[in-house]
Amino acid sequence: MKILAIESSCDEFSISIIDDGKILTNIISSQIEQHVNFGGVVPELAARLHLENISWVIKAALDTTNTKVETIDYVAYTEKPGLIGSLIIGRLVAETIASYINKPLMPLHHIEGHIYGASIENEFIYPVLAMVVSGGHTQIEIVNSPNDFKVVGTTLDDAIGECYDKVARVIGLEYPGGPKLDKLAKEGNQTAFKFPISKNDESYDFSYSGLKTAVINLIHNLNQKNEEIPVADIAASFQYAATKIVETKLAKAIEEFKPKTLTVAGGVSANSEIRKIIIELGQKYGISNTFVPKMEYCTDNAAMIAKLAYEKLKISK
Ligand code: KG4
Ligand code: ZN
Repeated sequence: MKILAIESSCDEFSISIIDDGKILTNIISSQIEQHVNFGGVVPELAARLHLENISWVIKAALDTTNTKVETIDYVAYTEKPGLIGSLIIGRLVAETIASYINKPLMPLHHIEGHIYGASIENEFIYPVLAMVVSGGHTQIEIVNSPNDFKVVGTTLDDAIGECYDKVARVIGLEYPGGPKLDKLAKEGNQTAFKFPISKNDESYDFSYSGLKTAVINLIHNLNQKNEEIPVADIAASFQYAATKIVETKLAKAIEEFKPKTLTVAGGVSANSEIRKIIIELGQKYGISNTFVPKMEYCTDNAAMIAKLAYEKLKISK
């Protein structure tokens, strides 16, 4: 069974082909360089650039796998959430291919796809506890099957990735600042500044706007006093506050939901501290099926959508 999957929800246009659960290709065209000067993704530009990338990405996916488009059995695509212009383009491409080969369409959820990105190289044993950390979401989900996702805690204001990018910008790092801030944090002292750890309560919800504001205020005060900005110490202290709350809430969720698989998904799962926390929590609570996705499957990609489609079809047979 072959599935062609399309992911286009933000600034990546990606096509993957999966054959009986095996990823044959995962072509990702990224637009980061075209958005750098704007300090973030410009929605209108993202949609226009997708248009330029459609043809070569489809051709590359089919040619590199020697796949005739008629041999595809299903066409999956990211239906939501995401930038509306970007999503519409992915949907139109999916609908066009599906109607040309007369095969069924599968509209899928971006975040559920991110979670299944973690299952590409490691099989899930249910229930799965997934920490979703991306540019748009900070969520804890319990997954009982590819059709059963329960959000137990979610983003109240800024998502963790958004917060990383905004803090990175105020300390002078180029967009997307998340990975650069993560790197810089390794050179600093995490106890140099005590930033607030937001929403440190009984709930599983996350809030990052207070932390963001605290860093912005600190920089503003240092600038006013004409003091040098200790960027590495700020990065390290920020990273500590931003990830400590993930550790605390995950530990509580593990105790309550007793998962058989512990994993992390979304762009920020590339973060070194988050990856460390997941592995250490898995060890502490004896969850042998604990894993972090390969970097290629952390950021937006169509392989994760293909894998989710495959797992859904597998249990529908
Ligand atoms: O999942 P994703 O590719 O796009 C969304 O669906 O949001 O996530 C992108 C986010 C960006 O905010 C980026 O800065 C962040 O993931 N990110 C990181 C790291 N790598 C990517 N944030 C912190 N540390 C990293 N190493
Ligand atoms: Zn994403």
